[in-house]
Amino acid sequence: MAERSVEEFLKECQQSGDSAYAALRSVLERLEDQKTRVQARIFLADLQKRFPSKEARDQCFDSYHFRIEDIFLDQYEGYQGRKKLTTMVIPSIFIPEDWSFTFYEGLNRHPDSIFKDKSVAELGCGNGWISIAIAEKWLPLKVYGLDINPRAVKISWINLYLNALDEQGQPIYDGEKKTLLDRVEFHESDLLGYCRDHDIQLDRIVGCIPQILNPNPDAMSKMITENASEEFLYSLSNYCALQGFVEDQFGLGLIARAVEEGIAVIKPMGIMIFNMGGRPGQGVCKRLFERRGFFVNKLWQTKILQAADTDISALVEIEKNSPHRFEFFMGLSGDQPICARTAWAYGNAGGRISHALSVYSCQLRQPNQVKKIFEFLKNGFQDISSSLDLSFQDDAVADEKIPFLAYLASILKESSFCSYEPPAGSKQFRNFIASFMKTYHRIPLSADTKLKES
Ligand SMILES: C[S@@+](CC[C@H](N)C(=O)[O-])C[C@H]1O[C@@H](n2cnc3c(N)ncnc32)[C@H](O)[C@@H]1O
Repeated sequence: MAERSVEEFLKECQQSGDSAYAALRSVLERLEDQKTRVQARIFLADLQKRFPSKEARDQCFDSYHFRIEDIFLDQYEGYQGRKKLTTMVIPSIFIPEDWSFTFYEGLNRHPDSIFKDKSVAELGCGNGWISIAIAEKWLPLKVYGLDINPRAVKISWINLYLNALDEQGQPIYDGEKKTLLDRVEFHESDLLGYCRDHDIQLDRIVGCIPQILNPNPDAMSKMITENASEEFLYSLSNYCALQGFVEDQFGLGLIARAVEEGIAVIKPMGIMIFNMGGRPGQGVCKRLFERRGFFVNKLWQTKILQAADTDISALVEIEKNSPHRFEFFMGLSGDQPICARTAWAYGNAGGRISHALSVYSCQLRQPNQVKKIFEFLKNGFQDISSSLDLSFQDDAVADEKIPFLAYLASILKESSFCSYEPPAGSKQFRNFIASFMKTYHRIPLSADTKLKES
């Protein structure tokens, strides 16, 4: 594409959000091409200079359907490296706000070694700023920024070039003589689909993904393409569909699926870090991880105002049909929890409601064994998955029960029936069953006990 003046570019953007996106895509094509990269980066610098104040940038967003602004990193715990990132947003993708900043704050509360030289996936990367900030600060081997919204992925790539090159289009090298382009990639992906399909094993999985069911379930059955409506693409930032997990009843089905997909692709000592809205209550949030065999550590918690663009009526519906009560607060200072129904009414009457937001860091307690269990359950045993509980107070009990289940899973995986050799079946397997029954259910079996036929 030939080089265009800022004026011509803005004229195209002014037509509609879709036209602005098309114009930005052609800028991305020029950034991707080595021959036009420098000029394209200089063009973006000129564009940014056209809107120097907050008012000008707000006006740019309203009139031209995009905004370029800086996110300041030096206000966060343990800050090092660059003071700020330059980032672009468009109306059809998530615009970084309290959720993102709290999440980044939580990531910063880990020790510095957390991402160094690691393979990291960020689920729901939005405009990509957190993936870029991780790469900038901690020098990971690779960050895969993944998002289901195709437009978010394209804008993330633009943001990567914006920060990998300086305003003259020259590469910015880090302490290891690499640029951000060496460390970060963005891909369109439903949760961890991209990593699963490319056999990528991860050291870290981090994510800040939707935790409220879409109040209009039909909306979620639409095809997700970059030509879908701006409203629909934007709604993916805040809402999810039913996922077929017990946690759906709290709006946490998407996180539950992310965790189960993560068990398959995380390396044994890997860590998952999730941003969790506290609306379902802290107990429910922790349990989602613990019952899948994780140790959980709450790293950071704050209270934030409920986003004004998110309808919580789906939570009110859940309360109508179950004894569960969600946890909201009146304003930021209220300390008595109120349920979703009260919060919804209070919000409709003009009040602002808030909820807790926490960052959880989780690690599998017996990684290889838990992986085996989930690998087995994935193939047709979803029902058992829903009632599986791998949370144990006592490590000694966990050390016995989890390997037993893993062994059972590996036997059943090989043959879906128990391969009893005549006359009494596999002695080793019978031994396992007998000692399990004896220890946990006080049933005095031995491998040779014969059960009476009734
Ligand atoms: C709350 S936003 C967070 C964006 C970004 N991490 C940030 O903090 O600015 C949630 C993101 O999750 C994405 N998302 C929703 N469902 C997804 C899915 N099934 N797989 C991957 N990403 C998804 C949305 O498109 C959105 O960009």
